[in-house]
Amino acid sequence: MNESDVQDFWNRHPCGDSQVGGLQQRRGDYEAFFSDYDNYRYSKEAHILQCLDGIDFKGQQVLEIGLGQGADSEQIIKRGAFWSGLDLTSESVDRVQARLSLRQLPHQSLKQGSVLEIPYEDKMFDIVYSHGVLHHVPDILAAQREIHRVLKSDGELIVMLYARWSLNYLISISILRRIGLLALHLSNRDLGGKYGQHLANARAKGILHYLDMANFIHRNTDGPLNPYSKVYDMQAVKEDFPDFKVVRSYKQFMHAPPLPVHWLPFERILGWNLWVHMRPV
Ligand SMILES: C[S@@+](CC[C@H](N)C(=O)[O-])C[C@H]1O[C@@H](n2cnc3c(N)ncnc32)[C@H](O)[C@@H]1O
Repeated sequence: MNESDVQDFWNRHPCGDSQVGGLQQRRGDYEAFFSDYDNYRYSKEAHILQCLDGIDFKGQQVLEIGLGQGADSEQIIKRGAFWSGLDLTSESVDRVQARLSLRQLPHQSLKQGSVLEIPYEDKMFDIVYSHGVLHHVPDILAAQREIHRVLKSDGELIVMLYARWSLNYLISISILRRIGLLALHLSNRDLGGKYGQHLANARAKGILHYLDMANFIHRNTDGPLNPYSKVYDMQAVKEDFPDFKVVRSYKQFMHAPPLPVHWLPFERILGWNLWVHMRPV
């Protein structure tokens, strides 16, 4: 596993693009795409806006790492931050640049680069915000060292990581999806789409190796070609972020496909998104 595999995947599969039919299918109409994407994102994950409302961005120097379509970037800017952005892929940076220009969003800077070598000076930022990104970074210890370097000593790191103690990980991915894939594999059927890709992966790797959770987790968070994902509990957060201390954490988002659980009121206990606020030590 190296960073170019991760970069290649996100360049080919821009975060959330396929969920709303894709930018290319709209013949590059950025405005229509961003509008559809943001509507989809914040209706499915309305908690994100509430979480952002709970953070005091006004007048703060904010670095966002891992931008996707730049939806949260726009929200952070509109909440009064002096925003800078960083993403590993040219695809995301181009899209976010288009959003910033189209919607005339004031910002400090937007760069392509890695969290492993953040192209900003020491102690520049009051807040580093990274939603759904750091669980895709294999060398997380190096990443958190870099974030520590660019944060002011009284700054705050706010991350969203996938939660181990979630219905999605414990039941859906660990049990249901594995049984389902084993059954499909044994039935020897040819399928297209996502399931077809899982079956092709399983054939290439061997079904038992593919179903091993050390491998299966990567392929079951952001699509069957995703090269790397990790799930976190608070012990793993402490181990992977030794240069920080946790000041607050909470879970959000009932999400455990194929189970239709979004209406269940247990997100604080078994939600898929673990938000963690940390301070440098
Ligand atoms: C799952 S998307 C999340 C995007 C956005 N924050 C959101 O919540 O929709 C992950 C993003 O992180 C970027 N990324 C992955 N590894 C990275 C790294 N090492 N440094 C910077 N960005 C990275 C990817 O290019 C992609 O745009």
